[in-house]
Amino acid sequence: AAGASVVARRQMKKSAKWSRAMGIVREFQDKCDSPIGKLRNLADAMTVEMHAGLASEGGSKLKMIISYVDNLPTGEEEGRFYALDLGGTNFRVLRVHLGGKDKGIIQTEFDEVSIPPHLMTSSSHELFDFIAAELAKFVATEDEKSHPFPGRQRELGFTFSFPVRQTSISSGTLIKWTKGFSIEDAVGEDVVGELNKAMERVRLDMRVAALVNDTIGTLAGGRYYNPNVVAAIILGTGTNAAYVERANAIPKWQGPLPRSGDMVINMEWGNFRSSHLPLTEYDDDLDVASLNPGEQIFEKMISGMYLGEILRRVMLKMAEEAEFFGDTVPEKLKIPFILRTPHMSTMHHDTSSDLKDVASKLRDILEINNTTLRMRKVIVELCDTIATRGARLSAAGIYGILKKLGREITREGEDQKSVIALDGGLFEHYKKFRQCMESTLKELIGEEASDTVVITHSNDGSGIGAALLAASHSQYL
Ligand code: GLC
Repeated sequence: AAGASVVARRQMKKSAKWSRAMGIVREFQDKCDSPIGKLRNLADAMTVEMHAGLASEGGSKLKMIISYVDNLPTGEEEGRFYALDLGGTNFRVLRVHLGGKDKGIIQTEFDEVSIPPHLMTSSSHELFDFIAAELAKFVATEDEKSHPFPGRQRELGFTFSFPVRQTSISSGTLIKWTKGFSIEDAVGEDVVGELNKAMERVRLDMRVAALVNDTIGTLAGGRYYNPNVVAAIILGTGTNAAYVERANAIPKWQGPLPRSGDMVINMEWGNFRSSHLPLTEYDDDLDVASLNPGEQIFEKMISGMYLGEILRRVMLKMAEEAEFFGDTVPEKLKIPFILRTPHMSTMHHDTSSDLKDVASKLRDILEINNTTLRMRKVIVELCDTIATRGARLSAAGIYGILKKLGREITREGEDQKSVIALDGGLFEHYKKFRQCMESTLKELIGEEASDTVVITHSNDGSGIGAALLAASHSQYL
């Protein structure tokens, strides 16, 4: 009988811990909740901030950067161009052979290199030397005989996916780093100047014809295939949006009115912030511990760099305050960023009856071994809460842009289509995120208009788009 009561007491303690853990989960879920009304408020707040950012420099959390792209690809671009795509965990170099109106893109070759993590926080010199060296290696593989215009200087579209204050189509100064990069001496410098110097050091003869953000590249790449593309969104390591604005709706634009009447804007929406955002204590802690506290709050709730880290923080709290993984806190769980969004995605998509993928991720990444099915189900639920919140917020952002453009409703007698080009690893690989984003956008737009807004995947758009923009800004035109 004594033995039985010990068991009973242990059982009681166990169930008390379990309910404490579930309390943490429920509270987190409540705070993450993003009902449609809240999303509508967010979309409106986004529209308001867009206006403010266009009105004056520094007028809003949204920088609404003028890209100097006032003409998007037409399909007539011709020649051989290079592109360099820097901004996530990998960087890519491309060579694109454009055949003009009839032939389209004849050939794309590319190479992908992962950036050694230490370079992300090193010096400008070191980072750009590495890039220039990789670029030179890639250029060395070119076949001069296949050059459509032999003897011309090589031209490059440089996709640099950080906030840059553009000073022309081919120059701009870095405003700040995001996404885990932090190289002090590059802030405020002209990034093209830095790249040029590094290219000179490796004796690479190449001219930067266009400096663009990845959203701008994606917009250009999308437009090449579809004239109805009006905006581009990146859902990857970071998140951001660009769209085509009427130049006369940009009060802060001092330059001449472009012939097209349009100007592409890089919103830098990752830095959006609003009292309507469903923030939790985990988001606040993540922000405080980050390389850029107080900044990129929207990005920290949505993008691939952070989703896995939010999950880790919730799990850590459950371990510390409710002994969710046993009476000791798993050591690995204490390591920031150890749990990556791809791991989270794998767990979230586990359809096996015993959730074996969840078990193996917990074991392999966190060295957590003895989980029960019931525990693994809770982890999957957490993945769902975090991904759903991010996906719904990104849909609200897109809806805000559509509203700004007056394209959120179908107008009598018009059958305009609004195509939005999307790219980024999160969009491409995290199926449930993507589905939730798309269904939420439909929900926001409503039945009648839902056919007029179309989402397309602009695969590798940003690299190809940069090459296209290099072509349309070539010195040989
Ligand atoms: C970050 C960068 C932004 C970029 C986005 C997606 O938000 O600041 O420039 O477009 O990530 O890569």
